[in-house]
Amino acid sequence: MKPARVADRTAPWWQSAVLYQVYPRSFQDTDGDGIGDLPGLMRRLPHLVELGVDALWLSPIYPSPMADFGYDISDYTDIDPVFGTLADFDALLDAAHRHGIKVLLDLVPNHTSDRHPWFEESRASRNNPKRDWYIWRDPAPDGGPPNNWLSEFGGSAWAFDPATGQYYYHAFLDAQPDLNWRNPEVRAAIYDVMRFWLRRGVDGFRVDVIWHLIKDDQFRDNPSNPDWRPGRPPNESLVPIYTADRPEVHEVIAEMRRVVEEFEERVLIGEIYLPIERLVTYYGADLSGAHLPFNFALLNAPWHARRIAQLVDEYEAALPPGGWPNWVLGNHDRPRVASRVGRDQLRVAAMLLLTLRGTPTIYYGEEIGMADVAIPPDRVRDPFEKNVPGIGVGRDGCRTPMQWDGGAAAGFSAAEPWLPPGPDSGRENVTNQRGDPGSLLNLYRRLIAARRRHSALTRGSYEPMAASGDLLVYVRRHGRERVLVALNLGPEPVTVSLRGDAAEGRVLVSSLGDRDGEAVTGELYLRSHEGAVVGLDPAETHGEA
Ligand code: GLC
Ligand code: MG
Repeated sequence: MKPARVADRTAPWWQSAVLYQVYPRSFQDTDGDGIGDLPGLMRRLPHLVELGVDALWLSPIYPSPMADFGYDISDYTDIDPVFGTLADFDALLDAAHRHGIKVLLDLVPNHTSDRHPWFEESRASRNNPKRDWYIWRDPAPDGGPPNNWLSEFGGSAWAFDPATGQYYYHAFLDAQPDLNWRNPEVRAAIYDVMRFWLRRGVDGFRVDVIWHLIKDDQFRDNPSNPDWRPGRPPNESLVPIYTADRPEVHEVIAEMRRVVEEFEERVLIGEIYLPIERLVTYYGADLSGAHLPFNFALLNAPWHARRIAQLVDEYEAALPPGGWPNWVLGNHDRPRVASRVGRDQLRVAAMLLLTLRGTPTIYYGEEIGMADVAIPPDRVRDPFEKNVPGIGVGRDGCRTPMQWDGGAAAGFSAAEPWLPPGPDSGRENVTNQRGDPGSLLNLYRRLIAARRRHSALTRGSYEPMAASGDLLVYVRRHGRERVLVALNLGPEPVTVSLRGDAAEGRVLVSSLGDRDGEAVTGELYLRSHEGAVVGLDPAETHGEA
């Protein structure tokens, strides 16, 4: 049972929630095909309950040819047999809800699979009623593609369809044709898909590549990017000003938001890779856009105290009034945090994620420190890596099986898993870490529990205190409650001096788990790579924190 929440009862649930992303192919297999499934997720719900997360976001589970592992959907309102059935989904939703855990689905409205019946109709003839549901253009005078737009996954973004003599646009694989979001029928069809799932009880959506939905209506060439260098993904050789982040996209997102609001207490999250000043426009005019435009700033940030403090300040300053912040350390498209910042810093990273102001999202396996797994060339599955090999864009390494125990296939499957489990799974796994009070897993649990107990951590303001050398210090304050967070981002021990009304308190969570409850007076000593969350005494009195 979860302890009662201290947070403001009038605030929406997703503001005080901790989200957890599951990549369903890799969480738990139960039917022995080496691929995770919904009954597996059901079996592993106790892990999520124990961790204390409030909501799950599932990467796509709909019928799909799996050219892009579910991000190529051929039916928006069913479950792919590899994952199970609609009945399995309903059972999972019900079980999760009984545990107080919400369930968010991945909505992929930018494109379908080329095997979706809508596209099959659209490509059937130039005058098919669904022709305009996708983006069809005549060849350039020389017969080549209509303009210079590039696919994110390599090559032109235009594929020629010999049967009808036109090209169709695909921002990703040619097996993922983009829907035409300027067509009102397309909008209505996707809004009905949303209602289908919302009526079923899902608590919201993470919307795939939401900033891509609208493209330039004049199909102008993208300008070239003078900063591009060989070794970077080829699509980055152009600046995508005409293919993404178009002004009209906000009107579409506001419509999606209204669909979500036909139902109570649902959330709309957008996947957006843009610089902070562009990202925050996705809250929409008067907050009519996404509730949470995903903030990926920490995915690329150099792991330096000053840089992180700066980007938090920049983000906090850029947020529109009432816009609720959020933070992410990893997802199924980016290298894992353990591989980016190193194992030594994992506890500090966890503490940062779970004490910054805003909604955190944990990517499955982060809680046990899973690192990217090196994938031998003959086991590469990611179409991005296959199309653009050898420059390190592959995403298989961060999608490997959840490491449950030290057994064969890390307890993930009785068969050979679709991707190899991490070589460290004998040591770094849920079973081992559960039994070790000082483990990373238990740090995640303690941090999540501390958020639950202290409204300063969920609702409080963010006040930067210090960022120098390897030290990062900030205070979260809500009413009279103040919590100080001190993080040592380096190997050298450091002493933080605390002054004035922030001088005394008690350690609420220490990163190694051996200092909880320790009194703090005037200074705080941090060991190598250590972090501490300190409940400060109320300013006026000096009682218990
Ligand atoms: C998003 C997904 C990614 C997918 C792409 C195309 O970026 O997160 O996994 O390949 O969209 O759907
Ligand atoms: Mg399976």
